[in-house]
Amino acid sequence: MDKLVIRGGRRISGSITASGSKNASLPIIAATLLTGESTFTLHQIPDLVDITTFTHLLHHLGAETTFEGNTLKISSKNVENIQAPYELVNKMRASIYVLGPMLARFGHARVSLPGGCAFGPRPIDLHLMAMEKLGAKITIETGFIDATAPNGKLQGGHIDFPISSVGATGNALMAAVLAEGTTTISNAAAEPEIETLCKFLIAMGATIRGTGTTELEIEGGCTLKAIEFYNVFDRIEAGTLLAAAAITGGDLTINGVEPEQMKAVLKKFVHAGCSIATTENSITLKSPEKLVSTDVTAKPYPSFPTDMQAQWIALMTQAEGTSHVTDKVYHERFNHIPELNRLGAHIEIHKNQAVVHGPQPLSGTKVMSTDLRASASLVLAGLVAEGITEVLRVYHLDRGYEKIETKLNSLGADISREKYNEF
Ligand code: UD1
Repeated sequence: MDKLVIRGGRRISGSITASGSKNASLPIIAATLLTGESTFTLHQIPDLVDITTFTHLLHHLGAETTFEGNTLKISSKNVENIQAPYELVNKMRASIYVLGPMLARFGHARVSLPGGCAFGPRPIDLHLMAMEKLGAKITIETGFIDATAPNGKLQGGHIDFPISSVGATGNALMAAVLAEGTTTISNAAAEPEIETLCKFLIAMGATIRGTGTTELEIEGGCTLKAIEFYNVFDRIEAGTLLAAAAITGGDLTINGVEPEQMKAVLKKFVHAGCSIATTENSITLKSPEKLVSTDVTAKPYPSFPTDMQAQWIALMTQAEGTSHVTDKVYHERFNHIPELNRLGAHIEIHKNQAVVHGPQPLSGTKVMSTDLRASASLVLAGLVAEGITEVLRVYHLDRGYEKIETKLNSLGADISREKYNEF
């Protein structure tokens, strides 16, 4: 297994370009299953373990792909297999994204039920509800979701999500573009990743109204074509890099971003004492003398993202005062806190709220990654901890951050990747 060995106390400064978004790539890749037309060319796809896992799933279904220099080419012409197996779905919950497009194109899909998750229950009931609203008959047997469209075709319908779900909105959109008639989606997720999926589907030939809002209307039954597409930047990677600069007292410019998509996060950096300057496609952060404690509440977009919650907690360990960090999306997403406390932080958990008492000097030790963003928070803490921090089980981090140690080292960090054996 790999670990990251971080020698702390170095400033993160300079300029860097953001990678393409992981969470936007996955639904876009799934959407290529909607047509047998060859060949999609997707640019700015990050080279990540999650992308590799997803392309393996596509291969299993019969698609052909090539991946070179962040450009992914996909042909779903020869897709015949309609079953997504446990071995692949279990590796990545986002595999559920194949359900909507497969069901819509072939009238039948079987997807293994995803397993548990490191940060609490993550049901898929809303995905299934959305498919049923489009006429699908769903049964769950032997660990598989078996979804069938009567007479082979989904029908447009009205989907009203009781809570905002990125994945279920994505699945509903992909299914609706091939369903017969009009579909409306209320309380749709408005995350930039869903907006990007809408743009992708529209470029393929779909008719979607309300892109970027919580009310979507889709005219189904369009003929879809294979296209060339440029993916959006990764707003969570960008936020994590800004936090790396802020926690180490550095100054950083990130290029290739759309600052508008990061308004809630940038506002919090300003509250914490950082100065932020933006252009159309760059963000520059300058660190203050002292960080100031800043409360955040993670909620669906356009609010502060749950995927930045762990990194914010790490940052607040170095801020003057007490910060309250609440997660209203995942109430139990706090696996990073015992590990941050092992580094010397003083953080309590009260239900879905972390109370961070800062500033606390951190000192390096071995810590364990438990999920993707928790790992990122440990790396941030390691950057400011005295001595050496070893972040174990770094495969979690590799799922979602492209060349993270190379990027941070180019900005002044001292991080090496080493092999180790777990007992
Ligand atoms: C996506 C992101 C993930 C991010 C999350 C919230 C991807 C690949 N992953 O995950 O990084 O943390 O959005 O921004 O894009 N829920 C249900 N039933 C369902 C589906 C979801 O109750 O059928 C609940 C979840 O438990 C959670 C909330 O809805 O409390 C939001 O989850 P959702 O937006 O669906 O997350 P994902 O799409 O899985």
